[in-house]
Amino acid sequence: NAAAEVRRHDDADVLVGDVASALLDRIESAQARGEVPHIGLTGGSIAEDLHRELARRAPDSSVDWSRIVFWWGDERFVASDSPDRNALQAREALLDHVAVDPAHVHAVPGSDEVATAEEAAEAYSATMRSEGAGFFEVLMLGIGPDGHCASLFPGHPALEARDAIAVAVHDSPKPPPDRVTLTFEAMERCRAVWFIASGAGKAEAVARALADEGTVAETPARGVRGDETVWWLDEDAASAL
Ligand code: 6PG
Repeated sequence: NAAAEVRRHDDADVLVGDVASALLDRIESAQARGEVPHIGLTGGSIAEDLHRELARRAPDSSVDWSRIVFWWGDERFVASDSPDRNALQAREALLDHVAVDPAHVHAVPGSDEVATAEEAAEAYSATMRSEGAGFFEVLMLGIGPDGHCASLFPGHPALEARDAIAVAVHDSPKPPPDRVTLTFEAMERCRAVWFIASGAGKAEAVARALADEGTVAETPARGVRGDETVWWLDEDAASAL
């Protein structure tokens, strides 16, 4: 896999604008090739800013929102109408404001729909297998101050998952405790993985993720490999590079 590419931006607003512009361009290009791109969304605060920016730009974009398949890199195992849900956040900020095809929006089952996070992970994995998500055009990821991405946390068993697309996570250090996350194996099948990080609070984790030395157990973001990995950073998040 090609080395990671770092794209630095003066501040969070410029960062979010550039990621939104690049993502819309990439979707338009895929659609112009006759493809229906699969896009993996992420939770987190900078992702919410990105979702709102995409909704703001949508009217001026030639993207056909009904010909995009939406997935999530991770989800909290809570009721599907809980404000803690990444899918609910993305609907409120973006998906409810553009003409998506509901059949192309695949949220991870919530705790009101299945009994355990394990069942949710298995159902989500089965949907991904049946929907032919052979690869994601782009998987968006955030990074935590501890170097986690999606719900792959330092030292957690999910880091070792093999032969699985999505797995359950318990005892997450970032609440809520029960989650479902894509595995590193699933992430490797992405054409592009785009990390987006803003703020000095991420600088040390970003530097550890991009350092020559370090372990995936300590900094899970080191374990992510797409054909193309891009780190979209503002200057604060890039300040320890
Ligand atoms: C989650 C997110 C998580 C997030 C990072 C960064 O479900 O909590 O997927 O991985 O992307 O924790 O979050 P912030 O951008 O809010 O710091």
